Amino acid sequence: MTHFQVAPLPGQGSYGALVTGLAPEDIEAPEVRQALHDLWVDKGLVVFRGIAGGADTQLRLSAIYGEPEVHPMMTGTDIKTEHSALAPIEFDREDGNIYEIDGELRGGYLPWHFDGAYVDRINHGGILRPEVLPERGGDTGFIDQIAAYDLLPDRLKARIEGLSVVYSYQPDFTRAKFGTRVDKLVRMSTLFRKGAGHPSVQTRAIHPLVYQRAETGKKVLHVSPWFADGIEGMETPEGDALLAEVIEYVIRPELMYFHRWQAGDMVLWDNWRMLHCATGIPPDQTRIMRRTTIVGDYGLGRREAATTV
Ligand SMILES: [Fe+2]
Repeated sequence: MTHFQVAPLPGQGSYGALVTGLAPEDIEAPEVRQALHDLWVDKGLVVFRGIAGGADTQLRLSAIYGEPEVHPMMTGTDIKTEHSALAPIEFDREDGNIYEIDGELRGGYLPWHFDGAYVDRINHGGILRPEVLPERGGDTGFIDQIAAYDLLPDRLKARIEGLSVVYSYQPDFTRAKFGTRVDKLVRMSTLFRKGAGHPSVQTRAIHPLVYQRAETGKKVLHVSPWFADGIEGMETPEGDALLAEVIEYVIRPELMYFHRWQAGDMVLWDNWRMLHCATGIPPDQTRIMRRTTIVGDYGLGRREAATTV
């Protein structure tokens, strides 16, 4: 019996899948769980369209992929949602981040990144679901870093093998060393400002620039432009130029998928191989999302050793 239909993502043939026709009551069936898990491992990004049941379905779907995790920056804050496993992703008109990009004000914009690069243990992924959508804007972008590795020229593959990237928490996108440089910071949210003082971000984190997936043996070009400080042991103009060149191969239009949200959508991604970004919304608009976070540890991150005197 067919419980759902799978199609390629519109406009993106190299990764991802679009799932339609999934009924919430079928989520507990073992063969459905196995098929949805295999799809995640194979495709990295799964868009569920027209799925009923809201937060309850989101939590039950998320449980297929692992235990829930509270986002590291949410611990110790008083931010609450209807369930502890649902993190609020909302643009607060009074206090949210606003940047000026190409002469336009954007609320809630986020540059390309994977979650938690600035800590040693990065979560395994999440499911994002809209509650209130803006009249325009508010897309979520994705890039698959397995597809990115495959496109990398052999000379660069050889140069980066065995290298690692050093990351630190950077709440101001105008100060990003790598990836898209944003024109102007108009307002930084309290959450982002306070984040810099959080105990979990006081030591830099280090992650390999390339790693091999345990389940498939595929290599991932594992770099988060936002939060990257440089290559470990090569934080020099030459090392920075190499990392910038590699990142240029990742941030390519043909590797991108931008999800334009509709009510009834849920999007699942694997944080160990996908980058994501938020295009932002006009600051007079409202966008309220809920996300689950899937706990996990790929086991390759570490903390930079504290400097000894
Ligand atoms: Fe994120």
